[in-house]
Amino acid sequence: MITRKSPQELELMRRANGLVASVLAELRRLVAPGVSTLDLDAVAERMVLDAGAAPAFKGYHGYPSTLCASVNEAVVHGIPSATALVEGDIVSLDMGVVLDRFYGDSAITVPVGHVPDRTTDLLRVTRESLNLAIEQMRVGGHVSDIGHAVQRHVEANGFAVVREFVGHGIGVTLHEEPQIPNYGEPGRGPVLAAGMVFAIEPMVTMGGAAVKVLGDRWTAVTCDGSLAAHFEHTVAVTDSGPLVLSQMAAEVVATREPVSVTHG
Ligand code: MF3
Ligand code: CO
Repeated sequence: MITRKSPQELELMRRANGLVASVLAELRRLVAPGVSTLDLDAVAERMVLDAGAAPAFKGYHGYPSTLCASVNEAVVHGIPSATALVEGDIVSLDMGVVLDRFYGDSAITVPVGHVPDRTTDLLRVTRESLNLAIEQMRVGGHVSDIGHAVQRHVEANGFAVVREFVGHGIGVTLHEEPQIPNYGEPGRGPVLAAGMVFAIEPMVTMGGAAVKVLGDRWTAVTCDGSLAAHFEHTVAVTDSGPLVLSQMAAEVVATREPVSVTHG
């Protein structure tokens, strides 16, 4: 069953996802050569706890951290480490929180300093494929239209879509029905209705699509060692079109103290 959220529930999901967005915006600012993903994890965890929320991934099937940080050929579920990022790396930062019962989930991939043009293309095409997928989040569309939009754009640009991991419904649990593959024929599967909320998360590689999980039992890497990018937004279907709940918007993070301005 695909749950449909009321306007009140969507507002709670906007707050949880707004917090995720503000943490990711801060982490993006901090990414630089010499910074470790463990440093970023510490900042993320402090911000989540300060906002009165809890990390969604920490403890989930034994996952050890607040953040998933997947560097270069790592696709998803990289465990934060003390290794410093170096110029030319790319790092996927994936974050989930639970706030007032509802989950937020979003990811960005960030270049570390200057990266080659083809790497910039990979990040751009992956982000564009997410935006095209979000456009499909309309009443009367089909679930499979989402993955079709991703696959079309990614493959037209000479990149490959990872099959082993999928997007998902989200609400009072991190993973709800349906699964959202990033490929497929359009016009299949359940029909989209107002109040449905999905985490859409294209994972795209520069080489082959095959991935394997490392000995740490979490980190998924490309089998051929090619670079991978990952972007994710939590998006609601509404009568007036797609509503991106995990977009950066300081005003939705209501649990934070208002900024005091002194004049004179
Ligand atoms: N964004 C990913 C997902 O929704 C992150 C999950 S990591 C885990 O599946 F640790 F929670 F498994
Ligand atoms: Co997700």
